[in-house]
Amino acid sequence: MQKKMLTGFRPTGKLHLGHLHGNIKNMIQNQDKYENFFFLVDWHALSTEYQDTHNIKKNLIECVIDLIALGINPEFTHLYRQSDIKAIPELTLYLSMITPMSWLERCPTYKEQIRELKAKDLSTLGFFSYPVLMAADILIVNADIVPVGEDQLPHLEITREIARRFNHLYGDYFSEPKEMLSKSTRVPGTDGRKMSKSYGNAIFLSDDRNTVKKKVRQMITDPERIRKTDPGHPRVCNVFAFYKIYRDREIESIEKRCRKGEIGCTACKDELAGIISDSLEDFQEKRARLLKDKEYVYEVLKKGSQKVNIIASNTISDVRKKMGID
Ligand code: TRP
Repeated sequence: MQKKMLTGFRPTGKLHLGHLHGNIKNMIQNQDKYENFFFLVDWHALSTEYQDTHNIKKNLIECVIDLIALGINPEFTHLYRQSDIKAIPELTLYLSMITPMSWLERCPTYKEQIRELKAKDLSTLGFFSYPVLMAADILIVNADIVPVGEDQLPHLEITREIARRFNHLYGDYFSEPKEMLSKSTRVPGTDGRKMSKSYGNAIFLSDDRNTVKKKVRQMITDPERIRKTDPGHPRVCNVFAFYKIYRDREIESIEKRCRKGEIGCTACKDELAGIISDSLEDFQEKRARLLKDKEYVYEVLKKGSQKVNIIASNTISDVRKKMGID
């Protein structure tokens, strides 16, 4: 039987380059090898955004448009909204019965987010049990492969532990999902920190040529390089990090011309901006078309959830039997 690949995506609104070079690229490149599940996790968004929810739905639609425009093909991939699969919270409830609180308490992402997101009150049951909901997302379709960023590995480990515990208690049923890590999980933003909408350092996939050029011009290069003829140090340069993503095959000659001081930083940046914009051309055309045809987008989500609901309700009826309710 064909293996199942699944990933969940936070509906953050329009996408940026950091998203693209993370798990989305992995998903697109492997679309023809697996049965694919790609969903927008609006319930997970609620766990951190419950105080201000007015953007969740709008952001979700923008995300779906970007994903389709990028090449997530609804013919090959079930594209759906988490909150359309009502069997997920039912499975979450069953799994929560067998999940020790200590597994969640020691989860590093939990501790880190409570520390980092001080402005939000995250001392809620929903946020605490986030990994159980994520386990249900994955186990509801019995996914084999999960493309994620490194930050999600602890959650995947908890998913496997829960699956193992279920199998031990009620007999073998769930397979243990494996991660698929993307090569360039960390795309730098224009200020060198990780690219993120909330840091204000993102290049969006929808940015026009001028905007991309302006943003790339702001990037921090090698602080020791003052004149064009000074030798550069590409290893510390943000622009070079992007060349590694976009021009990996020619990376040695690009490195050389910088080290030898053959090209100035501004010219090097403008060239990169052109490369980025060229790579976004097809996407932007497709996106513009989809923006005018939102009905199609809603239809994709509806069809996606219909298919997944069939699989999900099978799982739930098996689980209910295994657990002795039915
Ligand atoms: N927790 C993931 C994130 O914040 C999103 C997510 C939710 C997910 N459910 C998932 C990812 C299931 C992979 C599989 O990015």
